[in-house]
Amino acid sequence: MGVGVRPSGRRGRLGRVDLQNARVLVTGATGGLGRPTVARLAAAGARLALTARDEARLAELAGSLGNEPPLVVPADLTLPDQPQAVVDAAVEHLGALDVVVHLAGASGFASVGTEDDDALDELLLIDYLAPVRLLRAALPALRETKGTALVVTAVLAEGPVAGMAAYGAAKAALSSYVGAAAKELRRSGVRVVDARPPHTETGLADRPLTGTAPKLPHGKHPDDVAARLVQALVDDEREVPSTAF
Ligand SMILES: NC(=O)c1ccc[n+]([C@@H]2O[C@H](COP(=O)([O-])OP(=O)(O)OC[C@H]3O[C@@H](n4cnc5c(N)ncnc54)[C@H](OP(=O)(O)O)[C@@H]3O)[C@@H](O)[C@H]2O)c1
Repeated sequence: MGVGVRPSGRRGRLGRVDLQNARVLVTGATGGLGRPTVARLAAAGARLALTARDEARLAELAGSLGNEPPLVVPADLTLPDQPQAVVDAAVEHLGALDVVVHLAGASGFASVGTEDDDALDELLLIDYLAPVRLLRAALPALRETKGTALVVTAVLAEGPVAGMAAYGAAKAALSSYVGAAAKELRRSGVRVVDARPPHTETGLADRPLTGTAPKLPHGKHPDDVAARLVQALVDDEREVPSTAF
């Protein structure tokens, strides 16, 4: 950050967080929720590092933003060393980290007793272990800035749903971890937020790691959910339950 630029991503008067020049890492940046979230963060003046697996889609997203070009870091977060590598690249490029928004994830809909081992492993890796490793990797940088990690879990974490046992269990495990982290880190000034959106029309349910999605009611609009996530960042909220969307 250049001399004279006010520190950002910090709590200001009235407890609001200023995103102008905030240094923000977004995972799942190219997804149905990622894209509108990234657009809003860019519009608010954040400096961005964006990650997902598909390099071409990341480059296309980066090119669509009018601001300072973001750093793009193609990575598969299910590989054990990749969360740390992504955080290291973001910190090196941005100089520090004020905010991490974790949106990478995948769905799965195999019936109980029919899940194959690969699908069970993949769901736990992407929906539980990857964000836990990401938070662990980002923590030293977030402690430095008294920053924020906003982790998107899901409404599924609030109660079990038939047909989504393994997917829901991974999200519930993550939500539990994030809730404990929020309590544990509060004194250090690091804010950890569990955001649990309801079903949203991003197409996520149409590309499951296993099974077929049951017929779902029409979901939320991705722009509205993204706006709510960014509002939670700015308003210094501590939790965004499904009813808040
Ligand atoms: N849509 C909903 O109804 C809903 C509701 C509640 C919670 N959520 C949660 O919100 C998050 C975002 O959902 P979405 O609807 O935006 O899904 P999406 O459109 O499918 O986007 C998923 C994003 O995650 C990335 N990703 C997937 N696997 C990855 C991996 N192994 N390593 C790194 N990046 C990976 C994808 O990019 P690549 O494929 O290029 O890697 C993409 O950018 C997910 O965690 C989801 O569970 C969604």
